[in-house]
Amino acid sequence: MKGVILAGGTGTRLYPVTISTNKHLLPVYNKPMVYYPLSLMMLMEIRELVIVINPEDKSQFEGLLGDGSHLGMNITYAIQPAPNGLAGGLLSAKESVEGENICLILGDNILYGHDVLKILNEAKRYLEDHNGAYVFGYHVPDPERFGVVEFDERGNVLSIEEKPERPRSNFAVIGLYMYDRDVFEKISRIRPSERGELEITSLNEEYLKEGKLKVKLLGRGFAWFDVGTHDSFLEGSEFVGTVEKRTGLMIGCVEEIAYRNGWIDRKQLLRLAERLNKTDYGRYLQAIAEEEKDAI
Ligand code: TTP
Repeated sequence: MKGVILAGGTGTRLYPVTISTNKHLLPVYNKPMVYYPLSLMMLMEIRELVIVINPEDKSQFEGLLGDGSHLGMNITYAIQPAPNGLAGGLLSAKESVEGENICLILGDNILYGHDVLKILNEAKRYLEDHNGAYVFGYHVPDPERFGVVEFDERGNVLSIEEKPERPRSNFAVIGLYMYDRDVFEKISRIRPSERGELEITSLNEEYLKEGKLKVKLLGRGFAWFDVGTHDSFLEGSEFVGTVEKRTGLMIGCVEEIAYRNGWIDRKQLLRLAERLNKTDYGRYLQAIAEEEKDAI
């Protein structure tokens, strides 16, 4: 499975902050927003990843993440010429990921919970054995802001609608999707919506029409944020800060995951920590390297 993170778009709901700055590089508590979707990819052991970006943002992303080798990964960038929707963004990555199962994550989504690793890996395995698409539903109080999924009493998906005026359920489809290798053929069938975008919901509908859309509902034990508005941005940052301070464990710490995955060694981790030595972040990495040394 290959990964695609969408980090383009316009970020108009965060204006004026994002007039001249890419949203996904803003700090959510103590790290750039893009670390959160990146860390989910890493937890799924996806090492090959494409980040879809706007043309003007390439040097900033390269400055932050480079080619990913410092994390034992292979990160490349695909330019989305104009923000023509989420399925449009995925299409921009076609050349690098075609012919593989794909995990697509929106660059402004944060997903956290005790069972995250388990449910993501279940989904990944499901796609290895079945054709189709696999998405997640999350109970929200304001479904009209999202893609909304409707079920019958046996859990079969009946419909999926983008920002409906009258939502048929309270379950929003979160910004983490898995697709089989037919995804680009399906994108070629969808047409732009009224707002001129190739919608991810239209793509999911293509799978639904063929009876190949699987939706897994996330229960109460998960926190999901789309940190794309002023309030949700603040809430996401406060959530991360609160959990990290309470537990002493970091959320979305890509260096830690690379190390625990065995993709970088202790020396490399210490080098990454050194660069951050004026921060709690750097001290956290250093402690991880020490802790392992003591254990041996
Ligand atoms: P949105 O939040 O729907 O759009 P946006 O980021 O442009 O923000 P706003 O609505 O405030 O103008 O996008 C969801 C994610 O997908 C976000 O991380 C940006 C990314 N994205 C792209 O990469 N390409 C696109 O064409 C669009 C629309 C979004």
